[in-house]
Amino acid sequence: MMAVPCSSLSRFLPISKALVPVLQSQSVRCAQTAAAVAAEPSKRVKTFTIYRWDPDKQGDKPRMQSYEIDLNRCGPMVLDALIKIKNEDDPTLTFRRSCREGICGSCAMNIGGVNTLACICKIDGNISKPTKIYPLPHMYVIKDLVPDMNNFYAQYASIEPYLKKKDIKEEDVGKEQYLQSVEDRAKLDGLYECILCACCSTSCPSYWWNSDKYLGPAVLMQAYRWMIDSRDDFTVERLSKMEDKFSVYRCHTIMNCTKTCPKHLNPGLAIGEIKKMLALYKKNAETSAAHA
Ligand code: SF4
Ligand code: SF4
Ligand code: FES
Repeated sequence: MMAVPCSSLSRFLPISKALVPVLQSQSVRCAQTAAAVAAEPSKRVKTFTIYRWDPDKQGDKPRMQSYEIDLNRCGPMVLDALIKIKNEDDPTLTFRRSCREGICGSCAMNIGGVNTLACICKIDGNISKPTKIYPLPHMYVIKDLVPDMNNFYAQYASIEPYLKKKDIKEEDVGKEQYLQSVEDRAKLDGLYECILCACCSTSCPSYWWNSDKYLGPAVLMQAYRWMIDSRDDFTVERLSKMEDKFSVYRCHTIMNCTKTCPKHLNPGLAIGEIKKMLALYKKNAETSAAHA
């Protein structure tokens, strides 16, 4: 049916009876549209300035690129803005994300100077100030906001992050449950929740300068989680692997790690506990040697 401009309805008079309901509904729709236009709030345009670098483009150099987003048409989190930019403005913008629930750890990046997860970081509503977004600091960059996590994962693998038992035959593994008291289980609270996002490690100055030898807060907290698990039989061996000058002792208790953790965990405290365990373990070893 042809649309009839509402302002011209009066020109159709006198109107045949059959046309009355059609024109009435048309006029209601026009009124609704006008009301909707009048009710639409004015745009809230926010600038996001984002680190860009594409190694596949010959000669490309790292640069910052700005994008404007109307916050009235965007979800509340920084990841919503990034997805909107990628979907509607620039499909070449590259970043990691998966769960958008703060569970997988893949959207870790530096937002407004803070290492955090884009999916649980609220967009700063101050539209006069651009939000700057960089990849996690002091990591090699694969592309745009995607850091190279290989060293981080290799360090995690090096602490053998799984239950290890002595005196058990290979064929008996998995045959019985290893029970734990409620109290012992509670000791793992605040440790097992780590999602390995690396926000803490990449906020640590010691890790920036020695990430080849210093394990960093995320990996150390997981090492501690297995050291204190009452079901694990390899605490002493786990400690002895960390006795060198770098693995643990590069931590100078600056506590950037704990401050930035988006899951509100305390890797700095866990590192302090490992240092205590190392001191006691050394003392015990010396005492046993003296008595031998
Ligand atoms: S301790 Fe926190 S910041 Fe560090 S990796 Fe785990 S969840 Fe991420
Ligand atoms: S407490 Fe240790 S691990 Fe945490 S930021 Fe400071 S030096 Fe790094
Ligand atoms: S997308 Fe999984 S933690 Fe952000």
